[in-house]
Amino acid sequence: MSQDLYTQIVNSPPGGFIAKRVGLPQPTTLDRYRPGQPLVSGTVLVGAAPGGRLAGAIAATLAAANAEVATTLDADLRSAAADAGLDASVFNPEAGGDRRFKALVFDATGISDSTELVELQKFFHPSVRKVQSSGRVVVLGTPPEDTKTPREHTAQRALEGFTRSLGKEIGKGSTVQLVYVAPGAEDLIGSTLRFFVSPKSAYVSGQVARVSAGLPVPADIDWEKPLAGKTALVTGASRGIGEAIIETLARDGANVVGLDIPQLGEDLKKVTDRLDGEAIELDITSDDAPKVIADFFKGRGVDIVVHNAGVTRDRTLAKMPEDRWQSVLDINLSSEERINDALLKAKAINAGGRIIGVSSMAGIAGNRGQTNYATSKAGVIGMVQSMAPVLAKSDITINAVAPGFIETQMTAAMPIAVREPGRRLNSMNQGGLPIDVAETIAWFASSGSTGLTGNVVRVCGQMLLGA
Ligand SMILES: NC(=O)c1ccc[n+]([C@@H]2O[C@H](COP(=O)([O-])OP(=O)(O)OC[C@H]3O[C@@H](n4cnc5c(N)ncnc54)[C@H](O)[C@@H]3O)[C@@H](O)[C@H]2O)c1
Repeated sequence: MSQDLYTQIVNSPPGGFIAKRVGLPQPTTLDRYRPGQPLVSGTVLVGAAPGGRLAGAIAATLAAANAEVATTLDADLRSAAADAGLDASVFNPEAGGDRRFKALVFDATGISDSTELVELQKFFHPSVRKVQSSGRVVVLGTPPEDTKTPREHTAQRALEGFTRSLGKEIGKGSTVQLVYVAPGAEDLIGSTLRFFVSPKSAYVSGQVARVSAGLPVPADIDWEKPLAGKTALVTGASRGIGEAIIETLARDGANVVGLDIPQLGEDLKKVTDRLDGEAIELDITSDDAPKVIADFFKGRGVDIVVHNAGVTRDRTLAKMPEDRWQSVLDINLSSEERINDALLKAKAINAGGRIIGVSSMAGIAGNRGQTNYATSKAGVIGMVQSMAPVLAKSDITINAVAPGFIETQMTAAMPIAVREPGRRLNSMNQGGLPIDVAETIAWFASSGSTGLTGNVVRVCGQMLLGA
């Protein structure tokens, strides 16, 4: 699926002319990643509140990515950039000029009192209008629960209101995120900062990600192929979002195994053959499914498990028979728990492993006619939160994505009165593409993402519903 028809029309010269005249929303054509292109096509401006602790880690990440960098006049930032070997230019807002930036990165970890939140205004007021389309804003802070004083906790918690609001006003297909970095996890921010400054995060905005202490990031990581040598299982891989996920993990170097129901065996095989992968034809709710999957990986091990298979069987609760309820809960949630348990019992998930769930905005905000679906998808969030501390003992991470409106066969089949608001009521004024969900999963899966666990990140263009 590509861009929707409306977006194509308003981005054509005559369509754009008419849309402007009559005041229709004009969704920006979003930049999306193509292999081989630079991480950021433009300059990254870095700023910091005094006393921050991430200047070195930010500079090291951008230097390793060969990014073009500018900093404010802040002395600590200038020396961190020099130490990282960056030939960073200086941005002096007083000097005027017409400089443009593709990304703004701000280290807010130095903010320890609400009176210091004005540092956000000081940095972003002169720079925000200079952000190019499909621009990126990343604010980095300290998790409120890891702060030293109530005042610092308050100030760090306040960052969330700032980033979510800026996401709603920045426009031009630009995104804004908050990344909370736990003390001691500074060296683990690389994969996350890379994802959020790059076009890979095209449809992710207004999100809060948490980087916590974890295994060290491999020194020899190849950021073009961060999954080289890894084995990934993707359920529901024959079409839609699952197909995009398995393609993206293969692009990033993984050996892929796709799974789908036997009725879609041919479609599945076409996908896995194309990617030099393997196929498992299996209904994940069947009694023997956990054992079949665990036996498949026993001995050889699996590194990445993506629970993507899912269904909707909508009815209002008053009209919901038990079998309709139960089948959705079983496919979308209970079978995932059984498969995880079987893989863990067989010790088939390698250390450094990743489990990734696919929740949904319906699981966060709720949706009329979807009590069964939303229950299952909120349960996926519960699974992430409850399993993260348990799996940490085996150096396995667990995270989930929560897609909003994604252009697939499922959403194409919606009645127009449901489809159009779903597609437009977000900061990007358009639906996302399966690749946007896949890129977010690839970020969680990356060998660099050792510090990410217990996260649920929405891929929804900052949909207006939900938290
Ligand atoms: N499309 C969206 O806008 C959207 C939004 C939020 C969440 N999601 C979630 O994303 C995931 C993928 O959705 P999609 O839009 O690509 O749907 P889809 O129907 O195109 O694909 C789902 C796949 O899962 C497989 N599957 C279903 N039941 C299975 C079972 N019992 N055993 C094995 N495989 C099974 C299907 O055969 C299919 O290939 C789902 O979990 C869905 O709930 C989608």
